[in-house]
Amino acid sequence: MGTSAGKPPVLLTRKLPASVMARLEAACEVEQCPGDGSAAHAELVSRVAGKQALVSMVTDTVNRAVIEAGDALRIIANVAVGYNNVDVAAARERGIIVTNTPDVLTDATADLTLALILAVTRRLGEGERWLRRGDWPGWAFDQLLGMQLRGKQLGIVGFGRIGLAVAARAAVFGMTIAHTSRSDAGMPLDRLLATSDVVSLHVPLTPETRHLIGQPELARMKRTAYLINTTRGPVVDEAALAWALKNRLIAGAGLDVYEREPEVHADLFPLENVVLAPHLGSATTETRTAMADLAVRNVIAVLGGDPPLTPVT
Ligand code: NAP
Ligand code: GLV
Repeated sequence: MGTSAGKPPVLLTRKLPASVMARLEAACEVEQCPGDGSAAHAELVSRVAGKQALVSMVTDTVNRAVIEAGDALRIIANVAVGYNNVDVAAARERGIIVTNTPDVLTDATADLTLALILAVTRRLGEGERWLRRGDWPGWAFDQLLGMQLRGKQLGIVGFGRIGLAVAARAAVFGMTIAHTSRSDAGMPLDRLLATSDVVSLHVPLTPETRHLIGQPELARMKRTAYLINTTRGPVVDEAALAWALKNRLIAGAGLDVYEREPEVHADLFPLENVVLAPHLGSATTETRTAMADLAVRNVIAVLGGDPPLTPVT
């Protein structure tokens, strides 16, 4: 594990939970990018030189420039299951291992997806805003009526770990499940969009899935249907979605992710039929600790000459 000069140098873009930091610091010489925000690109390029490992976050752009500046890099441990922020091909060319954090965040992300489904179909955001403004006149029989989930179809686009976990939760609420898949007899996307009452996106962001949902796809959905996106913002054409919500082409949306985070399309803010969460999918103390722990275990394994636990293949 150690270099001739001592512990192997590691660059961390954000502070990790104390227990995980302690384990990393016991095994490695850790340098952390200053500040709490995502590492500025120039900062990343200059600090990565000479480091054997980079522990990156979903908000860090680990592109070819960073990878080429990482002249001693052996592993990039992304603290996320999605790795669209890392140029995996560039890393592979240089023999650098890339790891992610699958499984440990599946439950938290599926829970948040259900929270968004419930929030938008039961008009929670709208109701809360009404109440906080002091405008609520009191209970009424036909007030803020939403959509019941029992008996409705949930269309899952991307039936992997999180998609499956969302399906299991939705089944408990009495929903029937349809899903798309490239590898089994799933429903074609067009039919899923046309028949589902709630459509939930769980595909990774790749060149093929960028703007998978745009104006034509939104137009295919039922006017009474809801779109949920907890995967990556660019999977949806955000301008087209804002237009569709404003013009009631669909009933509503629940979003955790955005095309240009932390920017959110300005047309979404005035709309009552969209619930906006600030990328909270894996944001529980337990899950973030488990993600950091897995990333650090990958670093320690690889720098110690062992295979990575969760390599991106
Ligand atoms: P996963 O197990 O790999 O599932 C993704 C599924 O998408 C795959 O099973 C695959 O199924 C399908 N897919 C469709 N088109 C694809 C394509 N072009 N390339 C690869 N797969 C494709 O991943 P997961 O653990 O469920 O995570 C899914 C995504 O959730 C992550 O990539 C990440 O972007 C997002 N996420 C967001 C948050 C958040 O904070 N909001 C938290 C965690 C994860 P088929 O092969 O059958 O098509
Ligand atoms: C979070 O967005 C992740 O991909 O883990």
